[in-house]
Amino acid sequence: MTETPAASSLGRIQHVTVLGAGTMGSQIAMVSALAGFSTTCVDIAAEPLERARQELWRRVDRDVEKGRRTAEDVAAAKERLSFSTDRDAVVAHTDLVIEAAVENLEVKREIFASMDQVAPEHTILTTNSSNIVSSKVADATGRPEKVCNMHFFNPALVMQAVEVVPNGQTSAQTVATVKALAEAFGKTVVELKREIPGFVANRMVAALRKEALDLLDAGVADVESIDAAAKAALNHPMGPFELMDLVGIDVAYLIRQAEYEQTGDEASLPHPLLKAKYESGDYGRKTGKGWYTYSED
Ligand code: CAA
Repeated sequence: MTETPAASSLGRIQHVTVLGAGTMGSQIAMVSALAGFSTTCVDIAAEPLERARQELWRRVDRDVEKGRRTAEDVAAAKERLSFSTDRDAVVAHTDLVIEAAVENLEVKREIFASMDQVAPEHTILTTNSSNIVSSKVADATGRPEKVCNMHFFNPALVMQAVEVVPNGQTSAQTVATVKALAEAFGKTVVELKREIPGFVANRMVAALRKEALDLLDAGVADVESIDAAAKAALNHPMGPFELMDLVGIDVAYLIRQAEYEQTGDEASLPHPLLKAKYESGDYGRKTGKGWYTYSED
């Protein structure tokens, strides 16, 4: 890969693997490639990878058109980013993994256990999960000191923050490397001292979202008015309902469900209105309908 100052300060981190070609995984992979790292985005099937590639190419080409990036930088990033369905072969030659697969603990434990078998000894294994804390997957590996959460925000190409969250066994060296990588990606690091489901930013979002859903449920105001209050009174870029549609109703629901599974506290359960929306299959922008209806473009 091309040596960038940021990359050289990271020592051994030259190749980054991102597991999952969904909204988060694909954009994280492009963030890494744009920052100068040789990057592979891995998924279980070719179809989501091709969809992700097309969407990423469209986004970065638009950045060139709008003068936000140079054509040379974008061409180089496309060169550095590859796509694969062969997880073991990619992980066998990688320096750091960012897992952005489905929010399901059993699936993640299986992924971490099998990556641990094939990854080089120095390889750091991180998860982008905001609710499944890394201690839940670290003990599926023989390298808990090299496991932590590295949590990006949606859309990852735009949002500046990355939360770096150690579990009880994560080494100081791992934290330092993951922080340096996030900085090399051009992100602002939010470092947590210890694990808590949801971390810092999403816990604040969850509190706002719960209040918004309670207000809707109580018939105090409709979706549009509640979003208008967040934007016009609080200067938020989006209202809580618009944000659920952006992140995905399914993701918002599964995050609550995963938190409930970890805490056993009924206060963690998805709000009944969120549950009903999830069960209706209207997941937000990705399905064309959520709290709002979206046209093709
Ligand atoms: N992917 C990549 N880039 C995007 C994007 C997307 N989905 N949506 C917008 N952008 C970029 C584009 O460059 C766009 O410019 P063009 O349309 O000219 O290409 C630029 O942002 C501006 O977009 P818009 O004019 O459409 O709208 P905007 O100015 O409102 O910006 C936004 C969009 C950046 C998403 C902004 O509304 C925002 O910051 N919203 C809040 C997002 C937020 O809170 N995210 C955190 C969610 S919580 C989370 O992620 C946690 C989790 O664990 C899931």
